[in-house]
Amino acid sequence: MVRAILVTGTDTSVGKTWVAAALARALTAAGLRVLAVKPVETGCADATGGSEDGLLLAGATGQHEPARALRRFRAAVAPAQALEREGGSLDFDELVLELERYEAAADVLIIEGVGGLLTPITWEWNVADLAGALGAHALIVATDRRGSINHTLLTLGAAELAGLTVLGVVLTSPRVPDASTGSNAAAIARLSGTARVHVTPWTDDPDTAAAALRDVAEWVAADLAPPSAGPLGGV
Ligand SMILES: Nc1ncnc2c1ncn2[C@@H]1O[C@H](COP(=O)(O)OP(=O)(O)OP(=O)(O)O)[C@@H](O)[C@H]1O
Ligand SMILES: [Mg+2]
Repeated sequence: MVRAILVTGTDTSVGKTWVAAALARALTAAGLRVLAVKPVETGCADATGGSEDGLLLAGATGQHEPARALRRFRAAVAPAQALEREGGSLDFDELVLELERYEAAADVLIIEGVGGLLTPITWEWNVADLAGALGAHALIVATDRRGSINHTLLTLGAAELAGLTVLGVVLTSPRVPDASTGSNAAAIARLSGTARVHVTPWTDDPDTAAAALRDVAEWVAADLAPPSAGPLGGV
């Protein structure tokens, strides 16, 4: 039985936080105890921290702890690079233990990755390693625009190489569609053999976003259930 979902992406700014927050709301509405955590966040230069991913995720579940990312860096670069620039240390095993404690306190732990699967957290460990250490299943987020077929297939390949189970793919709608928008999901399903490819609308409304993630919440519920049981009721 899996309780941790890694929301990862094909790139930065593809909609990981948007999807993680909407999924957290959808699962919370279904009666599950959800914690949503950003293990490592970079680009935390704003003194108020008001737009940080960790804060947005905590707001989506209403959790008090953690209120922000577990490890925060100012520089908007990969964590391993930020560590090098800003000094300090990041103990990967300690980070995994912290996440396991949050996982034990919830029905579902949603973990937002940083960048993509191969983004280095330290020079020794990347995001895929973090998911592997936690036994988390990966939800891959891409934007429904030109390039997403290639980027999604590359990410699915990286997940397979890392031995990760993929929960599915979510394509977030771009604010401004391009000629490919609307046709990428079918192409990804066809080429990857993954039936679970879900497209979400462009919306700033949290309730609409949560409703749009209902299908994905069903995937999570099916994943949570032990093989002999049916899907959890109410999701
Ligand atoms: N479906 C959507 N509807 C409305 N806005 C969206 C949608 N998807 C993404 N956005 C917006 O696009 C921007 C980038 O999305 P988001 O911050 O979720 O990406 P990310 O992958 O988490 O980025 P990062 O790599 O910095 O963590 C945000 O302002 C977000 O609110
Ligand atoms: Mg984010």
